[in-house]
Amino acid sequence: MTPQAHLFLLGLAAAGQAARQPEGFKDAFFGCRGNETAPEQLHFNYAGDRGMTISWNTAAKLQFPTVRYGRGPLLDRIAFSEVSVTYPTSSTYSNHVFIDGLEPDTEYGFAVHCADEKDRHQFKTSLPAGHRRPYTFAFIADLGTMGPLGLTDNGQKDALSPGEITTMQSLSQFKDQFEFMWHDGDLAYADDWLNEELDGFLPNTTTKGGAAVYEAILNAFYNEMAVNVTMDRPYMVGPGNHEANCDNGGAGSYTDSICVQGQTNFTGFRNHFRMPAEQSGGVENFWYSWDYGMVHFVQFNTETDFPNAPGIPGGSGEENAGPFAPNGTQIEWLKKDLASVDRKKTPWIIVAGHRPWYVDDTMCDSCQAAFEPILLEYGVDIALFGHKHFYERLAPIADGVPDPKGLNDPSAPWYLVNGAAGHYEGLSTPNTPLQNYTVKAIDTVYGWSRFTVHNCTHITQDFIGESPDAISFETQHHC
Ligand SMILES: [Fe+2]
Repeated sequence: MTPQAHLFLLGLAAAGQAARQPEGFKDAFFGCRGNETAPEQLHFNYAGDRGMTISWNTAAKLQFPTVRYGRGPLLDRIAFSEVSVTYPTSSTYSNHVFIDGLEPDTEYGFAVHCADEKDRHQFKTSLPAGHRRPYTFAFIADLGTMGPLGLTDNGQKDALSPGEITTMQSLSQFKDQFEFMWHDGDLAYADDWLNEELDGFLPNTTTKGGAAVYEAILNAFYNEMAVNVTMDRPYMVGPGNHEANCDNGGAGSYTDSICVQGQTNFTGFRNHFRMPAEQSGGVENFWYSWDYGMVHFVQFNTETDFPNAPGIPGGSGEENAGPFAPNGTQIEWLKKDLASVDRKKTPWIIVAGHRPWYVDDTMCDSCQAAFEPILLEYGVDIALFGHKHFYERLAPIADGVPDPKGLNDPSAPWYLVNGAAGHYEGLSTPNTPLQNYTVKAIDTVYGWSRFTVHNCTHITQDFIGESPDAISFETQHHC
């Protein structure tokens, strides 16, 4: 512990705040134990207009995960929790601290428990709903671990060219331009451990040994993400099929029966994140919403918790997952959430789910049946998806019919599929002929989407990859 931190705690005591600290807090605060408490996998996310949740992992459980933060050069405030959680097979604990009462649209310095003094970072709080400042955000899906446990330049399918920049590196290069990153499912691809072994890419292990390989891939991913982006920009996430289980929805002759306790039903995903469900009436990291300036953002769950969802037991996705709430909860929440949007404040509504229903001919029909009528009824502007390992820019569409107005003040939501961020499995090719609502498909390069919210009539999207693509979306009815 540094002298500065000691002074800080003494300062708290002098201010009479120490009484609010629970028994054992000071011992825990000063009890850093080398590698056991060294922070890794740092990330943070919005939690209401005035809140931020800071998350990181440690090898050992923390009694009181603590964050020091402040607006000036001194980190003169402190927040702590008792949330240090793990699961069987995990090699780490996920620590989460919610900080409330922050000034909106404001930068804070912070350092998490037991961080070196040089490991000080910054977050910027949410732009309040209704604020008219233009901004940019990053959208990705289907991004896995890079390097020897995932995607390499070592001759695998769709391998990186020698020296080719990865999506993580690209995000890192551009991060001064975007205010937050939204990852719409399929994080890490730890469940590819089995395919990687069946392919001879990784050495074979037993099932029990495989559980450790799974965790190694997961930890590598979150550390790479931290270094490149998530220790500097808010990271919002949603559920994809690759979070569900250890077996990639079946690999070779294997099924999820080989998944040991702790590697089923989105366990790692539930431990690792604390999305703002509490602030938006949603459920965990599965469905929730948040406002940012001129946009109301909604994450919904295409894997479980609606009729014939692909990820439920017996579903087409073979995930054997869910439910996470009583029947009907997600759909009712989505209707209520969208109905409550004040379009004068947040004229735009942008939603994201993982599995697309408009894409080549591999649509998620049950997703469409559950969600499309709601998106149409409540005037959603933009619907984003991943899951397919390519980029497909579609028209605004209603009930399968492209809106004749195109991107010029359409009545239907504009659809985009971008699951081209990159991972061990490489890219896929859309089935042809392409559907009549597909405007542009890119399936040969990795990349991500950069959205710029200009004003109440104008949003642009750029595909950032070696084959760029751009659109300009306009409305007249929002102002
Ligand atoms: Fe997926």
